[in-house]
Amino acid sequence: MGSGVLEEARALLGGAARVVVLTGSGISAESGVPTFRGEEGLWKSFRPEDLASPEAFRRVPRLVWEWYGWRRAKVAPCAPNPGHVALARRALRGGMTLVTQNVDGLHEVAALACAGGGDASPALPLELHGALFRDRCTRCGRASEGRRPVDVSSLETLPRCGACGSLLRPDVVWFGEALDAHTLHAAFTHAAQADVCLVVGTSALVYPAASVPLITLERGGCVVEVNPRETPLSPRARVVLRGGAAEILPALLA
Ligand code: OAD
Ligand code: ZN
Repeated sequence: MGSGVLEEARALLGGAARVVVLTGSGISAESGVPTFRGEEGLWKSFRPEDLASPEAFRRVPRLVWEWYGWRRAKVAPCAPNPGHVALARRALRGGMTLVTQNVDGLHEVAALACAGGGDASPALPLELHGALFRDRCTRCGRASEGRRPVDVSSLETLPRCGACGSLLRPDVVWFGEALDAHTLHAAFTHAAQADVCLVVGTSALVYPAASVPLITLERGGCVVEVNPRETPLSPRARVVLRGGAAEILPALLA
């Protein structure tokens, strides 16, 4: 990556009144969180429809809970990397909205750390695909923290709702499910108002999340992409920064 493109991207972001950021699993790769696609991706070893779908949960809730228990155990020790921190610092200054497809919660951890006890809300992301460390009741819909280890030895030992006793599920969006309408609307509104959409670490293949930069483009804004590899969005980006988010974002946003 030449310093010319970095300077061009810095100028675009510096001159923008409003920035929307769309992140994907690649921003957390350097924190040790596995991505979904590609050689080392989760979907190489597992079929999403077997583990991350309402049908799978109806058929074999224990298997689905085992998979989410495994993912929670893998993500729990991971910490935000300099990419998350740079975004949180910049978002706290205002004029930037974070939208993420990630369920790992690392943007929130970075926001709370950077706010240092102050108001972290400007750096809290809109989480399009839910949250890995949150449960939701399958009957009454009540959400609760999902950090305790899950005992998958039988149907009876799976987590139950504190209010109504029904089975809990991870509060994430599964294949075939709709995204939360309110969250999606907020993301699209910020995308429409943004001068620049900064797209970090996503294959830009999964809709409706992948619409976020397209909406900014439609409304006359531009896209800056940070990704070590080409994506379907790359040809439409004003500036493409090829490399890892943990190295590029601090240089871009300092
Ligand atoms: P993918 O696994 O599809 O894409 C990860 C992207 O991150 C790829 O384009 C990589 O090139 C890039 N990448 C890898 N390392 C990186 C690094 N260090 N810095 C920056 N980029 C890097 O993940 P997503 O696009 O997030 O949905 O996948 C979208 C959705 O598909 C996920 O939210 C999930 C999945 O099925 C649901 O679970 C609903
Ligand atoms: Zn309930």
